[in-house]
Amino acid sequence: MGRLELVKNEIDTVLLNQENIADQRDGIVHLYGVAQNCTLLAIKRKLNVELCTIIGLLHDIYTYKYGYVKEHAALGATEAESLLRDLEIFTEEEIQIIKTAISHHSDKKTKHDKYSELLKDADVLQNSLFNATFEIKHKKRLKKIYKNLGMKMKMKQ
Ligand SMILES: [Fe+2]
Repeated sequence: MGRLELVKNEIDTVLLNQENIADQRDGIVHLYGVAQNCTLLAIKRKLNVELCTIIGLLHDIYTYKYGYVKEHAALGATEAESLLRDLEIFTEEEIQIIKTAISHHSDKKTKHDKYSELLKDADVLQNSLFNATFEIKHKKRLKKIYKNLGMKMKMKQ
């Protein structure tokens, strides 16, 4: 089994443990949706596709395991780190890239490294696509993402 599949198995276990069906549905759509956006943006930005997909899959692990808290990014980074260490198939450098990106992902206003920015963009994009009638958060970032993908978007005010 490949590394991506092994991480998916870990995430599936967390998602299957959700108490209600709506949380489970939202979790599956969000984590796999963000992971797919990470894949797309990694191809576009010529970053490591496998690592980016894994970053997306793991980024909200804390929330789906223990419930949402404001500090879920920092806590999730530690959670992801221990999961990756237990799998014993990731290098120290890879673990640090993943951990760093997850730890920064709530801070959408600051600019960090390429992997952190990719995750924030993938997260914002998934939220905006999940329900296009919701009010758009992080409009500036979303506009940049669209531009990066060669698309123009008319934003609702
Ligand atoms: Fe998220």
